[in-house]
Amino acid sequence: MPGPMEGVMNPLFCRTAAALELLPVMVTPFLRISVDVPRRNKIIKWLEPLAIPGKPLVIQLMGDDPANLAAAARILYDYGVREFNLNFACPSGQVVRSGAGGALLKNPALMRSITAALRHELPDIALSVKLRCGFADPRETDDIIPAFDGLVDYMAVHFRTVSEGYRSVSGGLERLRRAVALSPVPVIGNGDIETPEDARRMLETTGCAGVMCARGLLRDPYLLRRLGGMESPEISPGRDLFFRTALAIAAAEPEVYWSRPRLLELARFVYGSDSTQFRELVGIRNFQPEHFAGFR
Ligand SMILES: Cc1cc2nc3c(=O)[nH]c(=O)nc-3n(C[C@H](O)[C@H](O)[C@H](O)COP(=O)(O)O)c2cc1C
Repeated sequence: MPGPMEGVMNPLFCRTAAALELLPVMVTPFLRISVDVPRRNKIIKWLEPLAIPGKPLVIQLMGDDPANLAAAARILYDYGVREFNLNFACPSGQVVRSGAGGALLKNPALMRSITAALRHELPDIALSVKLRCGFADPRETDDIIPAFDGLVDYMAVHFRTVSEGYRSVSGGLERLRRAVALSPVPVIGNGDIETPEDARRMLETTGCAGVMCARGLLRDPYLLRRLGGMESPEISPGRDLFFRTALAIAAAEPEVYWSRPRLLELARFVYGSDSTQFRELVGIRNFQPEHFAGFR
């Protein structure tokens, strides 16, 4: 599965992924539901450009109010969405301070109430959660995993704690193995998968049922195809193909997709900020759609 990435998985990313058939399923970045439930039109306007035609769609919701989250899920359900994921993982300071995302890992009872609210509102949906192994300590896994008994179809687990942010950690796979041992439902392992070998190691070491890749998907946009045994270019030409396709799509429909900051951000994620490709792009004076029209 692709790991959701707020700020990266924007409409242009999704159009590009669709054109190159990069994703077997689309998992949206979080839709934050706080004090007020957004109106239907606003939710649908956010969702439509993120859906990938012909692919299953999982909507990720984030918030700490069970009733509001269930109400937002109902709006999406009435629109046709049948699969939801709840974000109990986001480490962003702003989100954590507001009590949502990864902050909820400190409160298994509230995570359970939120998950139960969706399950009871919409009994026939596929429902999953996205977790980290703990807020401050991976031993919290032992209290977190049982919170979802009888409520979810699977769990995606990132092996870092919220406090660890994105720092490198040792023993990540052992943490996941613990989560797998505790979970009555399949666990999708997440964290630092950049190659098929990384994925194989995670599956074999932890017993998890599948893998979720986020940043690795930017470094190697064909990673999920590669993992699925599908024909794929090598990493470097694959990156070029991905970025050039995104540029071409943006240049062809500038009113919808063209945004210099977003394109540079995408290039930074795909190539890295130290790369010659990124520096060249930053240096282009005439960074206008016309300059890239027909560019492949
Ligand atoms: C820029 C960025 C945005 C992210 N946004 C989300 C998000 O919206 N929802 C979520 O559950 N995880 C989000 N994540 C976390 C990833 O899905 C993933 O769990 C994490 O990056 C670890 O996996 P990786 O090592 O394969 O990148 C984000 C990560 C990054 C780098």
